[in-house]
This record gives sequence, C-alpha cells and structure tokens, in this order.
Amino acid sequence: MKTVRYSMMSQYFLRWLLFIDLVCSQFQSRIHVGDFGTSFAPADPIELINTISVSSQIRCAQTCNVNPLCRTFDYDTLSKRCRLFEGEIATGQVNRSAAIPPTSRVSSIAYTQQLYLAYNQTCDQCQVNRYLLCINNTCQCPPHTYWNGHMCLNEGYNGSLCQNDEWCRNDKNLTCSSSHLCGECIH
Ligand SMILES: *[C@@H]1O[C@H](CO)[C@@H](O)[C@H](O)[C@H]1NC(C)=O
Ligand SMILES: *[C@@H]1O[C@H](CO)[C@@H](O)[C@H](O)[C@H]1NC(C)=O
Ligand SMILES: *[C@@H]1O[C@H](CO)[C@@H](O)[C@H](O)[C@H]1NC(C)=O
Ligand SMILES: *[C@@H]1O[C@H](CO)[C@@H](O)[C@H](O)[C@H]1NC(C)=O
Ligand SMILES: *[C@@H]1O[C@H](CO)[C@@H](O)[C@H](O)[C@H]1NC(C)=O
Repeated sequence: MKTVRYSMMSQYFLRWLLFIDLVCSQFQSRIHVGDFGTSFAPADPIELINTISVSSQIRCAQTCNVNPLCRTFDYDTLSKRCRLFEGEIATGQVNRSAAIPPTSRVSSIAYTQQLYLAYNQTCDQCQVNRYLLCINNTCQCPPHTYWNGHMCLNEGYNGSLCQNDEWCRNDKNLTCSSSHLCGECIH
C-alpha cells in the first residue's frame, strides 16, 4: 500500500517536473513509473543507449526525455545508476528477479497515436517534438524505428513479425523474409 502511494506520488511529481521541462526544453512526455525491484532487459543489448550516474530519478527521466531515441529507462536510487534504452517497454522484459536491488525500478515513456499527427508533414509541424525528427524537410521517425501507419515503432530483431524491410533492424543486416519474419539476409 505504501509502495503504491509513493509510486503515485512520484508519478505526480515527475509529471509536474516534466511540465517545467516543457517550458525549458520544449519537450513534454507522460512517464509511467514502475515498481521497485525491477530492471529493464531490452530485446537486444544494442538498445542500451547510455549508462550514467545522476542524483535523482527525475534527472534520469529528464535525460531520457530530451533524447528522442530513449523510450525506457531504469534508475537505482542507491547506486544512482541511470540506464537509457531505445526499446519501448513492451519490446523487452521487465526483470523482476530477486537479485534486482529493491531500490531499482523501470520507467517508460508513454507512446500514443496522438503524438504522431505531424508525421510526414513539413518540419514546421514538428519543431517542438521528441517523437518525430525533421529529415529532408519532413517530420519522420527517429533512427531504429519505422512507421506502421499510425506511430513510429522500434524495428524488430531476428524472428520478429514484419511487413517490409523497414520493420527490421537494418543496421544489424536484418530484412523481412517472405514468411514475414525479420532475419539475416542471405546473399
Ligand atoms: C535479470 O536480472 C538478473 C539479476 O541481475 C540477471 O541475472 C538476469 O540475467 C536478468 N534477466 C534477464 C532476462 O536479463
Ligand atoms: C509522405 O509524403 C509524400 C509526399 O507528399 C508521399 O509521397 C508519401 O507517400 C508519404 N508517405 C507516407 C508514409 O505517408
Ligand atoms: C533525403 O533526400 C535525398 C535526396 O532526395 C535522398 O537521397 C535521401 O535518401 C533522403 N534521406 C532520407 C533519410 O529520406
Ligand atoms: C534467428 O532465428 C532463427 C529461427 O528462430 C534461428 O534458427 C537462427 O539461429 C537465429 N539467428 C540468429 C543470428 O540468432
Ligand atoms: C552487415 O553487412 C555488411 C556487408 O555485408 C558487413 O560489412 C557488416 O559488418 C554487417 N553488419 C552486421 C552488424 O552484421
């Protein structure tokens, strides 16, 4: 009960602080704060963007928020370790092993279709935006993500379902096979 209250309270503070952040950095996001005793296990180790040491969970959240590639982070209040990941929370696993410190927890940025209304429009529509980047003068998905018709989603790894090559991590030489699974291309 106490844990739940604390988690709701810190969620409130995070939203409040991220609103302040909006004023400063023109970036706004909704962050879901998870349970203590968890860490993030991404679909592939390549998704770890950075491991840094920061004084608080709020700073960890802000560092993630200003990086358009960052979708999930975990923070340990004891060791001060903040890890930033490219993968949206559902693409990996929330590790609840007993070996995870009770001071560590996973948080994730919430992604909805409403955040992508400026997709493929001219860049004046996405100047204030952490979800779409200005590429060739239009608003496009950030690296390592693809457009599924509604949102930018993380590209998949070996064995992920796909409709075309853009759905697969092409920097890992994965392409979409005729059976609609990402896999190593064989030449
Ligand atoms: C979960 O965390 C434990 C303890 O750190 C680690 O040994 C294990 O490999 C992790 N599991 C995954 C799926 O990463
Ligand atoms: C993006 O816009 C261009 C130019 O208007 C259009 O040709 C293309 O089909 C659009 N792409 C998507 C995915 O909507
Ligand atoms: C940007 O436009 C150039 C020239 O039209 C093209 O060669 C390039 O592939 C485009 N880049 C992206 C990321 O779409
Ligand atoms: C990719 O997945 C296939 C099918 O599950 C498996 O046989 C293959 O070894 C995997 N390749 C790599 C590089 O992990
Ligand atoms: C992808 O393929 C290119 C060309 O075959 C090769 O040079 C590169 O090392 C490969 N990258 C990965 C991550 O396997």
